[in-house]
Amino acid sequence: MRFDLFTLFPGMFAGPLDESIIKRAQAANLIQIAIHDIRDWTTDRHRTADDTPYGGGAGMVMMAPPIVAAVESTLGNDLGGTPIILLSAAGEPLSQKIARELAGRRRLAMICGHYEGVDERVVTVLGARELSIGDYVLTGGELAAMVVLDAVARLVPGVIDAASVAEESHETGLVEYPHYTRPAAFRDETVPEVLLSGHHAQIAQWRREQALRRTARRRPDLLTGLDLSERERAIIAEVSQVPDPT
Ligand SMILES: C[S@@+](CC[C@H](N)C(=O)[O-])C[C@H]1O[C@@H](n2cnc3c(N)ncnc32)[C@H](O)[C@@H]1O
Repeated sequence: MRFDLFTLFPGMFAGPLDESIIKRAQAANLIQIAIHDIRDWTTDRHRTADDTPYGGGAGMVMMAPPIVAAVESTLGNDLGGTPIILLSAAGEPLSQKIARELAGRRRLAMICGHYEGVDERVVTVLGARELSIGDYVLTGGELAAMVVLDAVARLVPGVIDAASVAEESHETGLVEYPHYTRPAAFRDETVPEVLLSGHHAQIAQWRREQALRRTARRRPDLLTGLDLSERERAIIAEVSQVPDPT
């Protein structure tokens, strides 16, 4: 899968994309990442990419022409079939479902806003989808684009072991159960006995129950619409009556 990132600050991507799983995925050619400097598509000698807002107000707005030219010329024949994301605090919230949907595509373009944001005609002319990574405001879309890239890239087949994705938070509709590794005893805390038992069915049942309990305590909003057994419903009802110890 190929990612094209459009930014005024290409240097921000050095480092995070050159480490760990994303680095290995690029080396194995499972993903390709191209960073494009929007200023390369400006037309004046000062390489101007932003201007004051019509209607007045604080801050600068990124101009539409260089961004649209950058995306159109980079995507070329792929323009019609490539999702174009504009990172925006006012966008649709990123979710695991959206990440999975995007991971099924061959190519993905992402535009990073800065300053007050981006001229609205970037959205209308390019048919961009606005995505937010949470209800807070960042200084720019670069970190948000890296979050989207990371969430999508790890779902590209071969990037990580499919089994480790299957039970993760938000894949099952629940947040994940707690993990433990050696040592078995640490300070006054011991690993739950069942995890040392080697009994796979009991471990699976314990993990499912822990995931349900955690979700009921921390993210009850996720439980709506889930297909749960009577026993699982009873666990949730019990958790809901007990104050959260964590
Ligand atoms: C300072 S912000 C602009 C905020 C904008 N004036 C608003 O109130 O929504 C600059 C850029 O950072 C990015 N950004 C900020 N918060 C974001 C978020 N929660 N998710 C995704 N992108 C974000 C966007 O690309 C945005 O254009």
